[in-house]
Amino acid sequence: MKVCVVGSGAREHALSWAIGRSADVVATPGNPGIDGRLPSGHTMASTPAPPEEVEADLYVIGPEAPLVDGLADRLRARGKAVFGPGADGAALEGSKRYLKQVATRAGVPTARWASFSSGELAQARAFLAGLEGGYVVKTDGLAAGKGVLVTADLDEATADLEAKLAGTSFGEAGRRVVIEEQMLGAELSLLCVTDGQRVVPLAPAQDYKRIGSGDMGPNTGGMGAYSPVPAVDDALVGSVVDRIVEPTLACLRRDGVDYRGLLYAGLMLTASGPRLIEFNVRFGDPETEAVLPRLESDLTSLLAAAAGGDLGASGEGTPRFSAAAAVSVVAAAPGYPLAPRTGGLVRGLAEAGTLEGVLVFHAGTTLDGAGALRTSGGRVLCVTALGDDLAAARASAYRAVSAVHFEGMQVRDDIALRPLLALGPG
Ligand code: AMP
Ligand code: GLY
Repeated sequence: MKVCVVGSGAREHALSWAIGRSADVVATPGNPGIDGRLPSGHTMASTPAPPEEVEADLYVIGPEAPLVDGLADRLRARGKAVFGPGADGAALEGSKRYLKQVATRAGVPTARWASFSSGELAQARAFLAGLEGGYVVKTDGLAAGKGVLVTADLDEATADLEAKLAGTSFGEAGRRVVIEEQMLGAELSLLCVTDGQRVVPLAPAQDYKRIGSGDMGPNTGGMGAYSPVPAVDDALVGSVVDRIVEPTLACLRRDGVDYRGLLYAGLMLTASGPRLIEFNVRFGDPETEAVLPRLESDLTSLLAAAAGGDLGASGEGTPRFSAAAAVSVVAAAPGYPLAPRTGGLVRGLAEAGTLEGVLVFHAGTTLDGAGALRTSGGRVLCVTALGDDLAAARASAYRAVSAVHFEGMQVRDDIALRPLLALGPG
């Protein structure tokens, strides 16, 4: 079997590596890490050819932009098996207003909200001023994870609202906004595989969104992750599936949307139970890099069954995860996320990659004319380590990261620290 993975980040490298345990992989455009023969005997390669020109038995689409743009529809129109929703389902991530409309119709617990467009500044200000607690102002359209302001300061929220609606801060994506009340609690990412009917949750993960240790500085695509999450048990996962994921899929089915792919629930664990922050329509990055290395059962057959509309057909049934913990630490370019500076020479990967239980996934890397590895994007690498528990995995991940070097490398030093402190000494 040959699987085409669409995308070029560490998420796609991790997907290629996990699929490569049971199938040949061609990634488009891929990255320099996606290259070679795996211990399984399968091959993993990158190609500059567009997905429509790659022949494969299954297509797995990584990023949201091509999904929102209808790539899955175009491939399905050619009779291809695709893991990833069509443009109709991808609108859940492409429009925050649509997401909130679906969540409200489905009765899913989420933050109180309203949506406004550029002609409605007065009404938007009034709604904002009427909220209790903190304020959240989001661009309706995609903004690479950077279109959300969360603040306790009404003046700051109002200024942000005005800039978004005027189109000065986020262009067209911000000319419609969603305003929400702020929810309080710990965040959780639950990645669910679905064929539109059945839901198979993967192991829960925790993501770190801010650039700086201690959750300081601006939001990024994600600076690290860990799995499992000690505070989250099967009962909690079950209640998220029952109360949030399944009602949403039922609502989509009523709208005629056949959603086959990954539905990623971004959740706030509030005092009154889990509430939905947002859905993403694809695997999380870097959650995938922490979750897939723990997967013991076959990913390829699971994704193929979802793409075929029959998750019951997946011979493996419920995915099996190892008891090991995984910690993923992202190494980002200087200036990321505001203005990343690229072109730096990357060193130490061979040393990091030979450490036991360590996987180095490439994100923004490229080979220069002389064959040297250089940085080419905001997030450059994601280093995952497996260990008997979170403390062991964390120690190995940071040992591996310390072997890697490029100029101005930014790394958070507190990935997976919080759950260890919460568990107490020892
Ligand atoms: P989103 O792009 O909707 O996931 O928002 C990005 C981040 O903003 C989330 O991961 C949360 O940290 C935060 N956020 C979004 N909406 C809310 C909310 N209603 N209350 C508190 N934090 C939020
Ligand atoms: N890690 C957050 C995301 O994938 O959107």
